[in-house]
Amino acid sequence: MFKRIALSAAAALCLTGTAALAAGGAGKVKDIDFSFEGPFGTFDENQLQRGLQVYTEICSSCHGLKFVPIRTLSDAGGPHLPEDQMRAYAEFYEIYDAELDDWRPAKPTDHFPESLLENAPDLSLMAKARAGFSGPYGTGVNQLFKGMGGPEYIYSLLTGYTGEEKEEAGTILYENTAFPGGWISMAPPLWGEDVDFNDGHANDISSISKDVASFLMWTAEPKMMDRQFSGLVGFIMLSVLSVLLYLTNKKIWAPIKGKNKSDTVATPAE
Ligand code: HEC
Repeated sequence: MFKRIALSAAAALCLTGTAALAAGGAGKVKDIDFSFEGPFGTFDENQLQRGLQVYTEICSSCHGLKFVPIRTLSDAGGPHLPEDQMRAYAEFYEIYDAELDDWRPAKPTDHFPESLLENAPDLSLMAKARAGFSGPYGTGVNQLFKGMGGPEYIYSLLTGYTGEEKEEAGTILYENTAFPGGWISMAPPLWGEDVDFNDGHANDISSISKDVASFLMWTAEPKMMDRQFSGLVGFIMLSVLSVLLYLTNKKIWAPIKGKNKSDTVATPAE
């Protein structure tokens, strides 16, 4: 009986899972296997460093990361830049210092600058502000297995340009299969071979889109590993607790249950 219930529950989950995939939300979002998914997932340090380079060389000309302190680039579990590289990186940005009433090179304690282009949104939290997957009728089954799909959305957005453009009220719009509504005012930022990596890593549009999507997941949730780890510890502790409670329960009721048994089951006279 239990087996049958378990089987039908599993079948129901699979069905809703595929239905959600088919529904796909407003735009088309491709599922990507990122290294940070799942309870044991971790950010890939090299990928984050490549993503930082893509952000710096391409996206930062329009988009800011104003909630991200530059010093966190050295954090273990993140891009983990050596201290001196992080310091050198900070100086790359000019920050307006209200106390000095002047511009000065950024320090590690400063945050990344705000967006330079007025209508380009800040990207610090973008990977959590957008959901790539939506479960059917809000069941959230898809999110349970694959996360919210923020980085997948960013990847799909960067790789989703069709090449079509149109002008509307003086603005040029570019057709994009991932953007809700299908037309975005961000010109295609990537053309392939936009950056050169020191280690010669692949720099086609798809690869660097994954790298920058991964980096933006880190900016949005730098402590994701800690959260996943405490979730796992919580799960294990609750499992142990359940077993203990079950055994305690059995032990407490044992005399009474045992007595009942001897009441109903005929035992040979002693
Ligand atoms: C030339 C300026 C420019 C560059 C370079 C640029 N963007 Fe954009 N981006 C924009 C503008 C403008 C918007 C707002 C588009 C809109 O809402 O129609 C935008 C929007 C976005 C959005 C939000 C889409 C949404 O769902 O609202 C994301 C994510 C994004 N850009 C990522 C990137 C990444 C990653 C890079 C670097 C690879 C990049 N952008 C490079 C100008 C730029």
